[in-house]
Amino acid sequence: MAAAQRLRDCSRRALLCFVLVAAWEAASGQIRYVIPEEMERGSFVGNLAKDLGLDLKELSDGGVSIVTRGRTHYFALNDKSGHLNTLERLDREKLCGHVEQCLLNCEVILEEKMEIYALQVEITDINDNAPSFQEEEMELTISEAKAQGSRFRLEEAQDPDLGVNSLQGYQLSSSNHFSLDVQTAAEGAKYPELVLEKSLDRELQAVHDLILTATDGGDPVRSGTTQIRVVVLDANDNAPVFSQPLYEVTLMENVPQGATVVTVKATDLDEGINKEIKYSFGKTKNKLSHLFRLEDRTGEITLAEDLDYEESKHYQFEIEAHDGGDLVDLAKVVIAISDVNDNSPEMTVRSLIRSVPEDSPPGTVIALLNVHDQDSGENGEVTCSIPSSLPFQLKKSFENYYSLVTDRALDREQEAAYNITVTATDHGAPPLSTSATISLQILDTNDNPPRFEQAAYTGYVRENNPRGASILSLQASDPDWGENARVTYSLLLPLLPGGEGSESPVSSSISIHSESGAVYALRSFDYEQLRELRFQVQAQDGGSPPLSTNVSVTLWILDQNDNSPEILYPASRSDGSTGVELAPRSSEPGYLVTKVVAVDADSGQNAWLSYQLLKATEPGLFRVGLQSGEIRTARSVLDKDALKQSLVVLVKDNGQPPLSASVSVTVVLADSLPQILSELSSLSASAAAAAGGGGGAEPQPGLTLYLGIAVASVSGLFFSFLLGLLALRLRRWRNSPLLESGASGNFSGVPVSQFVGIDGVRAFLHSYSQEASLTAGSRKSQLHFPQPNYSNTLSSQKSCDLLYIGRCPVKTTPCFPTSFLLFGHFLIITVVYRDLILPEN
Ligand SMILES: *[C@@H]1O[C@H](CO)[C@@H](O)[C@H](O)[C@H]1NC(C)=O
Ligand SMILES: *[C@@H]1O[C@H](CO)[C@@H](O)[C@H](O)[C@H]1NC(C)=O
Repeated sequence: MAAAQRLRDCSRRALLCFVLVAAWEAASGQIRYVIPEEMERGSFVGNLAKDLGLDLKELSDGGVSIVTRGRTHYFALNDKSGHLNTLERLDREKLCGHVEQCLLNCEVILEEKMEIYALQVEITDINDNAPSFQEEEMELTISEAKAQGSRFRLEEAQDPDLGVNSLQGYQLSSSNHFSLDVQTAAEGAKYPELVLEKSLDRELQAVHDLILTATDGGDPVRSGTTQIRVVVLDANDNAPVFSQPLYEVTLMENVPQGATVVTVKATDLDEGINKEIKYSFGKTKNKLSHLFRLEDRTGEITLAEDLDYEESKHYQFEIEAHDGGDLVDLAKVVIAISDVNDNSPEMTVRSLIRSVPEDSPPGTVIALLNVHDQDSGENGEVTCSIPSSLPFQLKKSFENYYSLVTDRALDREQEAAYNITVTATDHGAPPLSTSATISLQILDTNDNPPRFEQAAYTGYVRENNPRGASILSLQASDPDWGENARVTYSLLLPLLPGGEGSESPVSSSISIHSESGAVYALRSFDYEQLRELRFQVQAQDGGSPPLSTNVSVTLWILDQNDNSPEILYPASRSDGSTGVELAPRSSEPGYLVTKVVAVDADSGQNAWLSYQLLKATEPGLFRVGLQSGEIRTARSVLDKDALKQSLVVLVKDNGQPPLSASVSVTVVLADSLPQILSELSSLSASAAAAAGGGGGAEPQPGLTLYLGIAVASVSGLFFSFLLGLLALRLRRWRNSPLLESGASGNFSGVPVSQFVGIDGVRAFLHSYSQEASLTAGSRKSQLHFPQPNYSNTLSSQKSCDLLYIGRCPVKTTPCFPTSFLLFGHFLIITVVYRDLILPEN
């Protein structure tokens, strides 16, 4: 129904419109009013009634309607006054926006008259709007790096008013950095632009607060503001800056790992990431990064490895500081390493001999040493030394080379090897040192002859020793080594004048073991032939050439009691009887009748003879001197004593066991020669009778006389012969160049045993020759006669004594010519032997 109503209504209107248009054309009236906007509701717009020429009555009938295109009714016709009033407050900006002429059209229909009038109401602008910004506050971020003159479009303000009432311009609060420029677009719109008049520096002022004011041209002028906050964006406009362009550090080379070397510091005025600084090594990085560690945030440089001054004395590198941007600063780090005496000297033995002969001359080079110290300066100066007690010397050859040479002669026998400790010390504080020991062997050279333990050796051997008996042992030592110390012994045989064929008595008597030095007897010695043996033994080492030492050895042959006493006087005849001694019957007790003379070839105790009466015809009449052998009367001869007394004297030596000999002596007791003769004749008759078995002739007195004369003349002849020989000999001595030492040596050198076997005679000859030499020597005072080498033995003194006693009968006692004769013979034989036989040897 509503639809049908609306359709009816619409058709009615359409009809009305058609009618109106036709009427308009017919009436063609148009009414126009102008009112300002924003009038109160009900405000007067125009007197429509009057303008249309309508009666108020007509109006009140309601035959007038106002048709508005669109639904909103802005105006209403007051029936009573016929005024057109506003139905509401009209806002031009709302109704027309920016349309220049804001027209509200409607029609006025006079229904009764069927007239239509166009009503046009123009709404004029008033300045009812202030310019306004969308935002009260706006923020603008501008990099401080923006160049001067840069423009920044600002939000424009809006003012919906028209014309002069709309936005007319902008103002900016005062600023050092900014100015405002208002641009007008082609369509006439104005928009503000902020112009950077002076470059920003965030570091100086980070925020700029500006006020932008927009004004219109109304009256009064309206304005709107907005606050512009310009935030200066940091641009990385500040490079990092190191606190120092150069960091200089001095480090001891023994600084431990991890120690801080230096901390570099760079600052950046920027902020944020632009302020964040990272440190890194510069171009030298690769070479050093193993040695130094750089903390990239803190700039702390620590030591990553041990330093070695000897490797590098200083380091130099660059450190870069990067900020968050690309800005970089460089600083140089110079690290000087100072030397610490951390290296001991090094010693190298370049060449070395391990052994040196002991006879090497001083200056022989043993070793060549090289010393080196990696430190520098004082720390690297090295001095080499060896203990001063050693016979070596260190010579500096050149630079760091030393040669170890011998300083003096070496002696292997004192020191066979050396450990030479060479010490190299540097001059650091504290000093460091190194030492090396060189072992040196001293080689032996044959520089020592064998040495006997004694200066001379004396050995003793009893005569009659077994063959091969060991006599003594020699010992020589040689301090050398090896072959040079191997000692062999040999006998040194004196060269005999006899020539090659003759053997020295030594070589046939003695032998020496070449290795042990033991001396053996090759034969049995006879003291009576050989009392001492002098020879030399040579000890020779095995060196090349060999060295030798001689030592003299004296071998004394010790006596054994192997000889019985030998009775010289009274001498036994071939038949065993002896001569007859005379004693006057009137002789006092103690009268020396005769003397038994005996010798013993032995010596010492073995030759100490004692005499004793073994048997006597008349016991008690005679006694024999125990030591002297003198036969003396023990009492006065009595008449009853028989004329002829037979005595047996025992001569005994003192050896162990003792040996002895006996002799029988016949003593005739008579006062005068005739008596003797008569006695003798009876004696010999009785003796003949005894020898011939009881029957015998009486001896002729004449015969006895002749016998005496013959004996005397023979003796005289012998004496003159003896004197002649003596004279001859004396003359020869005078002519000869005195007694040279050689001659005397010759004399004394003759083995005693070869000379005369009997001590007494030797002693006699000695005293004789001494007399002779003294007469010769009185003319030359420096002449000296060799000391007889036997005179100090007991046996020889004893023998001398014996001789004296033996001579006694010759001088003092009217002995029986026979004994005299015998003694004379003996002397002659001796002299002949001494003078004639010996010189020819
Ligand atoms: C040298 O040194 C060695 C090894 O230490 C040692 O066996 C030897 O006895 C020493 N020699 C001397 C002569 O000191
Ligand atoms: C040892 O004696 C021999 C022979 O008489 C001699 O040639 C040699 O030089 C002597 N040696 C010494 C060291 O005296």
